[in-house]
Amino acid sequence: EKGGHDYFMLKEIEEQPEALANTLRGHFDGGRIVLDEQRMADQDLRDVDKVFVVACGTAYHSGLIAKYAIEHWTRLPVEVELASEFRYRDPVLDRDTLVVAISQSGETADTLEAVRHAREQKARVLAICNTNGAQIPRESDAVLYTHAGPEVGVAATKTFLAQIAANFLVGLALAQARGTKYPDEVAREFAELEATPAAVQKVLSTVEHMRTLARDVADSKAVLFLGRHVGFPVALEGALKLKELAYMHAEGFAAGELKHGPIALIESGLPVVVVMPSPKGRAVLHAKLVSNISEIQARGARTIVIAEEGDDTVRPFADELVEVPAVPTLLQPLVSSVPLQVLAAEIARTRGYDVDKPRNLAKSVTVE
Ligand code: F6R
Repeated sequence: EKGGHDYFMLKEIEEQPEALANTLRGHFDGGRIVLDEQRMADQDLRDVDKVFVVACGTAYHSGLIAKYAIEHWTRLPVEVELASEFRYRDPVLDRDTLVVAISQSGETADTLEAVRHAREQKARVLAICNTNGAQIPRESDAVLYTHAGPEVGVAATKTFLAQIAANFLVGLALAQARGTKYPDEVAREFAELEATPAAVQKVLSTVEHMRTLARDVADSKAVLFLGRHVGFPVALEGALKLKELAYMHAEGFAAGELKHGPIALIESGLPVVVVMPSPKGRAVLHAKLVSNISEIQARGARTIVIAEEGDDTVRPFADELVEVPAVPTLLQPLVSSVPLQVLAAEIARTRGYDVDKPRNLAKSVTVE
């Protein structure tokens, strides 16, 4: 049942191309994005003047990625917040606020309370959920199901990629309704999204490399993760996976913050995973990250670099280079997250832990 794998998580990592395709299926028809499971009229989307994304853990990281895409495509302000913070604040919401509540299980207590909090203030709530008929979609105005299939491993993998894709669908639907993107632009963005399952399939060829690398870094006392732009949430997610599975100290940083403190942590032999942007897509960001890597390498860090295929400028600074296929900048998390999932799982396995059932954690967090 684990599909020949030692643990479910690896099977689920390998199911990601299919999960992504299933999430996207049926949502582009007649030249338009259709959120057919969504009980929300085009008019409602047109009136939205602000978006809040609320979620916990990995789902929250998918929301951080959504912010870059939704703001870029729609020019709407987007705030992303941990549900456990949002629900105890007094956020400024009204009927033109769209609250996107992201939850794989659809039962997370804090996210559910955030939904109730938002609805009491008349905001419209759209749930992004992987579990049919769960409480969060039941209490929301509308729902977009991810259709990633059941996830057995406690650590979210395929549902994370599916959440990212669903967030992009919401962003494109908003852009379409508000006219901030022409129909042919929306169609092009959707076509790029539809090409990502094949790109993720290609990234799966890095599994063996990550396995070897995992054995090499399994005894480190900590691992740092750096990224910029959409690579920053990927770094946060890479660190979360390592904490929860391998019980190692791991932290994700925005690379631009390095000089404001974290660089003091760099010491000889410390593994630092760097998520590179495309050299073609965001040349300025790319140059800044190359400079960050050279700084940490000069201080003795062991650099593990996730970079686009053919990115030769980064090669001299990478002690380990992990190549991922070229995809448009906003979609990069869909490919760059995958090696980090494998790295965390394989480090956990090397250290002798149960990858599918990490200690102290539950698949569905129904207590606050
Ligand atoms: C990490 C992980 C958790 C969940 C979080 C929210 O791998 O799985 O951080 O993402 O507990 O769960 P859902 O999405 O069910 O609300």
